[in-house]
Order: sequence, then C-alpha cells, then structure tokens
Amino acid sequence: MSKIYVLNGPNLNMLGAREPEVYGTMNLADIEAQMRKQAPTVDFVFGQSGSEDQLISWLHQAFEEKADVILNPAAFTHYSYALRDACAMLKGRSKLIEVHISNPHARETFRHNSVISAVATGVIAGFGVDSYLLALQQLTRN
Ligand code: DQA
Repeated sequence: MSKIYVLNGPNLNMLGAREPEVYGTMNLADIEAQMRKQAPTVDFVFGQSGSEDQLISWLHQAFEEKADVILNPAAFTHYSYALRDACAMLKGRSKLIEVHISNPHARETFRHNSVISAVATGVIAGFGVDSYLLALQQLTRN
C-alpha cells in the first residue's frame, strides 16, 4: 500500500469559514474524506499546522519513509526557506506536489512568488479543493 502525506500550512484548519469567496465552503475534513474516497487503498497521513517546525518534521518523516507528499504550504509558500530546504531533500527520492486552492498568480503580488515550486515535482493551483484530488490522481496513476 502506498503512503502519501497530505500536509497543510497555516490557517488551512479554518477552511470552510475562512474567506469562503476565495477558498470555498469545504473544510479540511471534507477534503480528507474526498481523498480517501478517491484512493481507498492509499495509506494517508494528514497533517495541518501553523508551525514550520511541525511541517518540517512531517517532511522529514516522509523523507525517511520515501513517501510522496501533497503540500499546501499556505503563506509559507511565499517566504519559508526552511520549508523549501525540507522539500528539496525529497527530490529524486519521492514526489512532492505543491497545491493551492486559489490561483496565487491571480492575487496580490506577494503571492506570485513561491520558494517551494522550484523543488516540487509539480504544482497544481486554482482548482479549489479539486487541486488536492488532481494531485492525488497524479500520484496514484501507474
Ligand atoms: C493558499 C494561497 C496562499 O497564498 C495563502 O497564503 C493560503 C492558501 C491556497 O491554497 O490558495 O493560505 O496556499
């Protein structure tokens, strides 16, 4: 059974209530349920934290286990070199897909730059919660 870490950064625990006009009305539990339904045989590890330290620890675990990762780094996308370094470790070892619910390029200028994208296997943004499902589809295709 393949293992996939699904990691979410700061404020994503507030999905559903947070700026619904930008992020929609589904919460993280809804997203998790949809992912489990789409890929019932995957061994998922779901994690959300506002702390870089915690997200980095999960990435280290994924490194040790050679597990793939779906990561929504949230605001850390735009400035966390520590998170980027942790993601870079996975390169050539397992896949890491950066996902965003909104399309950051269509928003404020500070969101246009991602320090994560260059070390990600791929990036999916702008499809609402389907961004996670598209990433999952990619990781589970043979
Ligand atoms: C986000 C986009 C980021 O710019 C923002 O800070 C988030 C969510 C998204 O999923 O669209 O928290 O990563």
